[in-house]
Amino acid sequence: MLILGIETSCDETAVALYDSEKGLIAHTLHSQIMLHRKYGGVVPELASRDHIRKILPLIDAVLAEGRLQKTDLDAIAYTNGPGLVGALMVGAGVARAIAYTLNIPAIPVHHLEGHLLAPMLEENTPEFPFVALLVSGGHTQLYSVKDFGQYEILGDTLDDAVGEAFDKTAKVIGLPYPGGPEVAKLAESGDKTQYEFPKPMTNRAGLEFSFAGLKTFAKYTWMESDKSEQTKANIAAAFQEAATETLKIKCKRALKQTGYQSLVIAGGVSANTVLREKLATLDTQLFFPRIEFCTDNGAMIAYAGLKRFERGITAELGIDVFARGEI
Ligand code: KG4
Ligand code: ZN
Repeated sequence: MLILGIETSCDETAVALYDSEKGLIAHTLHSQIMLHRKYGGVVPELASRDHIRKILPLIDAVLAEGRLQKTDLDAIAYTNGPGLVGALMVGAGVARAIAYTLNIPAIPVHHLEGHLLAPMLEENTPEFPFVALLVSGGHTQLYSVKDFGQYEILGDTLDDAVGEAFDKTAKVIGLPYPGGPEVAKLAESGDKTQYEFPKPMTNRAGLEFSFAGLKTFAKYTWMESDKSEQTKANIAAAFQEAATETLKIKCKRALKQTGYQSLVIAGGVSANTVLREKLATLDTQLFFPRIEFCTDNGAMIAYAGLKRFERGITAELGIDVFARGEI
């Protein structure tokens, strides 16, 4: 079964072809980072307009790369939420319309299920059940995953997501959007011991997170500093240390609580090297997607779409997208 996956929930137009027998055939994406950078964050209307411009040429590109025709497709999966509604409507509308004309199923995919299953695109895949840490620009959640479609939230953030904390801290110290990779890069030349950032909610029981305080801490630390380049790097390093250590502490707790042997990390922040290194020291088998599949991509949507189709999920003719909501 050949599936086309389409992802347009935020600032990446991404498409991929996944074959149930052969695996991933082709994938490509267009990042809107440079379009939004001068505004310091994603401008929803500009995102939608750019998805419209890019989506059809990208679909043609993956089909050409796979030496396939539209008529070879058996189904089309698309992200139907959560995300920016205007942006989601582009992918959903295009996916639904192509599926309609080809008379094949369209499959709505929850963006977070896509991220959670992204490690399944690698050679070494986790076995159920596992604990999953989903860390992106909009989410910080721990899940108990018992099977495809069985996702139970163990812990969530009470305020900002960890990716959001990276992005906001980056802004405070004058780094461009998106801040996560910028903070990580600058932290390499910083001394993480020069400042001690709080590790929110680690000194009390539970699996909840709270990252809004880190950004505030970064702000006051920066305001009261000498504002040198070295100080900037030191703040980036100390922030990253506290954020990743907090995630590690909660992962350890979740593994203990569930008794599961495997930990999956996914979402944009799972690209972070320090986080990966810290989690690798836990007494568990660690699984994560290749770097390009940590952030938004079409491959995870095609794969999650296939798994949804196998569970009998297909889209109605009336197209539905949503801004917020659990898997
Ligand atoms: O999953 P994603 O591409 O989009 C959402 O669904 O949100 O995640 C984007 C987030 C941004 O906050 C970005 O700053 C963060 O992931 N990010 C990173 C790194 N790469 C991306 N954060 C820390 N370290 C990184 N290397
Ligand atoms: Zn995402």
